[in-house]
Amino acid sequence: IMSDDTFWYEGTPFPRAHYSPELLRKVQEEFVLKDEDVVTVTFPKSGTNWLIEILCLIRSKGDTKWVQSVPTWERSPWIETKPGFASANKKEGPRLLSSHLPIHLFPKSFFSSKAKVIYVIRNPKDVIVSSYFFWNSINWIEKPKSVEQYLEWFLEGKVPYGSWFDHVRAWMSMRERENFLMLSYEELKHDTERTVEKICQFLGKKVEPEELSLVLKNSSFEVMRENKMSNFSLLDECYLVHKNPLMRKGITGDWKNYFTVAQAEAFDELFQEKMADLPRELFPWE
Ligand code: A3P
Repeated sequence: IMSDDTFWYEGTPFPRAHYSPELLRKVQEEFVLKDEDVVTVTFPKSGTNWLIEILCLIRSKGDTKWVQSVPTWERSPWIETKPGFASANKKEGPRLLSSHLPIHLFPKSFFSSKAKVIYVIRNPKDVIVSSYFFWNSINWIEKPKSVEQYLEWFLEGKVPYGSWFDHVRAWMSMRERENFLMLSYEELKHDTERTVEKICQFLGKKVEPEELSLVLKNSSFEVMRENKMSNFSLLDECYLVHKNPLMRKGITGDWKNYFTVAQAEAFDELFQEKMADLPRELFPWE
């Protein structure tokens, strides 16, 4: 992955296909977050697009018109990409935005605003498996040859957006702030309804029971997989190896099908070491 398709910016690798150092600097220094903005922030493959779909559907009270007619990346522009930056700057009123940036590269304006950030974490072993398949479904960075190879890159932080451990640890330091909500893919999966209610509460949005059930139905894996506005099948053809690269399995614990016992044990040991000072209950997976 450390080939020509990648550049480093302040210690973090980015795929050239979608980013530039100039733009990253601009996003950090000049992008203005407004108090009424809601930003989905994740390390890639942690459930970003699922949360975006939920947020869009909460906004439309469960109605599917918006999510069925506008691609994800226009509904919730990805601020650090060129098209996302432009489209975010053009939007008026309360915006939904997305970002994978580590906190030290996030727009500085955030830290003196009331803009809301929802940060989603996921079991890193599942992030690894999901990423391995995603990077093989898409022409974007050098394709990992095996889960084992991707695991190695991941542990060295030589993957897009760098070290998962640093990303998560730094963003977690925001967890006591009023305008910050931390969620996990696991809780979204195991109790979607309660988690969506938690999101609504954080947003100060009241949803009626019928609306809530529409939000749940229309953000389900099955519905999203068939929605071409949400499943990434509209990405430029030159990027697509697989026609439906995003909606792969949508389950927790798939790592068990790909990690050997020894790999899992070594990973867990390293995890303990790196995250020892953080309360274990912040990581709701076994
Ligand atoms: P898998 O590859 O494990 O299936 P991101 O949006 O951050 O790129 O994350 C992609 C992962 O979220 C993929 O995981 C994808 O299947 C999963 N996902 C997307 N929408 C989902 C949904 N509605 N329910 C469950 N998982 C979903």
